[in-house]
Amino acid sequence: MTLSNTAPTAELQALDAAHHMHPFTANGALGAKGARIITRAKGVRLTDSDGAELIDGMAGLWCVNIGYGREELAEAAARQMRELPYYNTFFQTSHVPALTLAAKLAELAPGDLNHVFFACSGSEANDTNIRMVRQYWALKGQPARRTIIARHNGYHGSTMGGGSLGGMAGMHAQGGLPIPGIVHIDQPYWWGEGGEMTPEAFGLARARQLEEKILELGAENVAAFIAEPVQGAGGVIIPPDSYWPEIQRIVDKYGILLIADEVITGFGRLGHWFGSQSYGIRPHIMTIAKGLSSGYQPIGGSIVCDEVAHTIAQDEFNHGYTYSGHPVAAAVALENLRILEEEGIIARVRAEAAPYLAQAWGALADHPLVGEAVSRGMMASLALTPDKASRARFAAEAGTVGYIAREYSFGNNLVMRHVGDRLIIAPPLVISTDDMDALVARARKTLDQTHAHLQREGMLQAAA
Ligand SMILES: Cc1ncc(COP(=O)(O)O)c(C=O)c1O
Repeated sequence: MTLSNTAPTAELQALDAAHHMHPFTANGALGAKGARIITRAKGVRLTDSDGAELIDGMAGLWCVNIGYGREELAEAAARQMRELPYYNTFFQTSHVPALTLAAKLAELAPGDLNHVFFACSGSEANDTNIRMVRQYWALKGQPARRTIIARHNGYHGSTMGGGSLGGMAGMHAQGGLPIPGIVHIDQPYWWGEGGEMTPEAFGLARARQLEEKILELGAENVAAFIAEPVQGAGGVIIPPDSYWPEIQRIVDKYGILLIADEVITGFGRLGHWFGSQSYGIRPHIMTIAKGLSSGYQPIGGSIVCDEVAHTIAQDEFNHGYTYSGHPVAAAVALENLRILEEEGIIARVRAEAAPYLAQAWGALADHPLVGEAVSRGMMASLALTPDKASRARFAAEAGTVGYIAREYSFGNNLVMRHVGDRLIIAPPLVISTDDMDALVARARKTLDQTHAHLQREGMLQAAA
């Protein structure tokens, strides 16, 4: 079996259906339908095996921040593979790519987040975080501080630890999650759950659930709170402005550790190097992955503050991955960071791309199906509704309408994702204003087609 980008689509689909188990997919249904096979990509565009060109509104899985096809990263990988394709960082050795990347991340990260523990993904990094915060408190002589508070509809990965920190009901329903010692509070999703409250009041109320949960558990039993600055996989849920300052106040008051999961929001997506800077919060640990290498290599990690890192250093930390700080991945990540920095990509997000997207995407709010059209940085979402005024849900099972819309979008050669009945995008940070216009035009066409479909099928009713 050789690798071929030019075999007929049907042949590739048959091999895929016969042998390839896809993540987060009903594989039986996909096998019957046939996966869309992506063969190459450049900038913000993907090409499939039939030669069709798609706008990648999701930057892969929120990761290809600098866009596809950057030769410099391929060169960095090839160079590193020739020089030192692999070595580990266990047992008293190190290597130049890992230590240089750690130093660079310490320079970029705010405050005293000066230390990096590498993993290969966001999920692994969050598993590291669970063990690290518990070990931290054990070393501080407070071993009872083990419970980690997270949020319903948060996403922190797919390993046992990551999936447990996450608050995805569909994931918890399979495989015995969550593991013990992880509890969840509600999300700051005003449009969906805010009822008659103002966004400000709702944001405060949801943040105060953290305080209530700490008091219920006893602060002496709580290790940490983990959250994404903006929930990504939960549907691009942008918290009300009142939310994060109140969380910071509570975290400070009870002396628990704050873990900001920056896997999506890191590396420029919100117009700063890290989403925490955009919200003015001061995490003790940040989870990173995705945009760290723009997805060109699998790499993630935890950026850790002085106090936690120095405490952990007092004893052997019995934890690590064969590929922690993999030299090729680290070399590629360094080149990616150089491009982000030297080309001023994050400054452009802040000054030009994000404001442009906010205006272009925000204009979709006038569509009859759209309850809210919101963005923060280069993350954006639409809430689909049968009735804007009451922020109603559809009578059809949650996600049915979102799925219909996503299918039209795919047909229009636009990769948008649906989360329930929300449509979401997170394009490469380098997307031009012309391409943002093209993206929004395809999104509008998708909404028109979905609306016509729902009318035809009598599906515009609200849930009782
Ligand atoms: C916020 C967040 N944390 C963690 C993860 C898990 O990262 P990975 O898929 O690299 O394991 C994701 C993935 O989407 C994520 O969005």
